Amino acid sequence: MAGEPRKLALVTGAARGLGRHLCLRLAAAGYDILINYLSSEAAAAKLAAGLGELGAAAWTQRADVSREDQVAALFAAADGTGRELALVINNVGIYNPIALREIDSGQWQRTIATNLNGAFHVCRQALGRLRAGGQIINIGVAGNQLNQAEGSATDYYISKAALLQLTRALAAEYAPDGVRLNMVSPGQLANSIGELGGAPGRVPLGRDGSFEDVWQAIDYLLGADYVTGANIEVAGGYRL
Ligand SMILES: NC(=O)c1ccc[n+]([C@@H]2O[C@H](COP(=O)([O-])OP(=O)(O)OC[C@H]3O[C@@H](n4cnc5c(N)ncnc54)[C@H](OP(=O)(O)O)[C@@H]3O)[C@@H](O)[C@H]2O)c1
Repeated sequence: MAGEPRKLALVTGAARGLGRHLCLRLAAAGYDILINYLSSEAAAAKLAAGLGELGAAAWTQRADVSREDQVAALFAAADGTGRELALVINNVGIYNPIALREIDSGQWQRTIATNLNGAFHVCRQALGRLRAGGQIINIGVAGNQLNQAEGSATDYYISKAALLQLTRALAAEYAPDGVRLNMVSPGQLANSIGELGGAPGRVPLGRDGSFEDVWQAIDYLLGADYVTGANIEVAGGYRL
C-alpha cells in the first residue's frame, strides 16, 4: 500500500489475544486500525500506542457487540476517523465449555448474542459502508460444522456453525457489489485462555496453532480477489 492513503481496518475484541496480534500485523501491512474492546480499556490504549510506533493511526472504541446500539456507535467512530473502511474482522468470540445438559439459558443466550448476533450487527453496519474491494473476515473455529467439542461447548460450536452460514449467505448476496466475506477457523491455539490442554497429540501436524498461523490465512485473504464465501481451517488437520 506504499504511496496510497492508508485504509481503515476495524477489529472487534482486539485489545488482547488473537485480535491484538492481528492489529499489529495489519498496522505493519499498511492499515490504520480501529480497536474495539469491551472491558480491556488499558490494554486497548496500550495497543493503540504500540500501533502508532508502527506508523499506523489507531483509535479505540468500547462496544459490546451483542448490543446493536453500541455497534452503531462503533461504526460512527469508524466514520469519524475520516478513513475509508476497507476491512472488518469479527474476532469476538466467547467460549465457556459446559455440557449441554448442564448449560443454563443465560449462557446459551450470551453465547448466541455475542458470537452470532454480534457478528450480524457488525456485518450489517459494515456492509452499509464497504465499497468494492472491501471485505469482512469472520473468525470461526475448526470443525465448526461438527457441532461437537469434547462433549461440551455445544452453544459455542452452534454459534460458529451459524456464523459460517451467515458468512456464506452474505458472501453470495454482496459478491455483485465487489465485497467479499470469508471465514478463518483456527483449531487449538497455544497461549490462549481457551486452551484445552494436550491438543498437540491430537493434531496431525503435531503442534498447537499460533496467532501467526491465523494471520497467514488472513494475509492471504487480503489479496485473494477471487475468493469469497470460503472457510479456511487453520488447525494442523485437527478434526479432519
Ligand atoms: N484461542 C483459541 O484457541 C481459539 C480457537 C479457535 C477459535 N478461536 C476464536 O478466535 C477468536 C479470538 O479468540 P481469543 O482466544 O483471542 O479470545 P480471547 O483472548 O478470549 O479474547 C476475546 C476478546 O473478545 C472480547 N469480547 C468478549 N465479549 C465481547 C463483547 N460482547 N463485545 C466486544 N468484545 C467482546 C474481549 O474483549 P475485552 O477483553 O475488552 O473484554 C476479548 O478481547 C474468537 O472468535 C474465538 O472463538 C480461538
